Amino acid sequence: MKTQVRTSRKMVHWKKFTLVLALMLPGLLISKAFAQRTPWVSPKIAQDAKNPFAGDRSVLAEGKTLYTTNCAPCHGNKGKGDGPAAQALNPKPADHTSASVQSETDGSLFWKLSEGRNPMPGYKTILTERQRWELITYIRTLAKSPAAK
Ligand code: HEC
Repeated sequence: MKTQVRTSRKMVHWKKFTLVLALMLPGLLISKAFAQRTPWVSPKIAQDAKNPFAGDRSVLAEGKTLYTTNCAPCHGNKGKGDGPAAQALNPKPADHTSASVQSETDGSLFWKLSEGRNPMPGYKTILTERQRWELITYIRTLAKSPAAK
């Protein structure tokens, strides 16, 4: 007799738990589907920061190595946003060859690289300032050439 009471209490407990889950799930799914990400805009003061290595070809080899190691898993070897991890990510990694990324200032890209935004990590504690500027200099070489489509 005693055991039976216990069992049924347990059942009630599980039923409640299931009900709570059932009520929560649609809410979670809906909020995920409708969660609008605001455009990622860097602060004006960051946009104006000057890249000490702008156009400096001597840092490109280092920039490329850093890119291949740290960024390619998401952004792809050529920067198209198609790295092996990209498929699982939402939002997708930015296409560094695109006009929208290439039209940003070095300072803006540097700020985004430093701060990060989920799912992209911020690199200000991972890479030195010099390494981050080298990466921005390298990203400039990924731009689609105007002749190619
Ligand atoms: C875990 C995956 C991941 C890694 C690793 C990663 N990124 Fe990203 N990156 C993203 C995603 C996702 C976005 C888009 C974020 C958004 O729009 O909110 C992004 C956006 C950016 C942007 C902003 C582009 C824009 O639209 O203005 C820059 C710049 C950037 N990444 C550079 C880098 C560099 C350089 C590295 C390597 C040091 C790197 N990322 C590593 C996932 C990643």
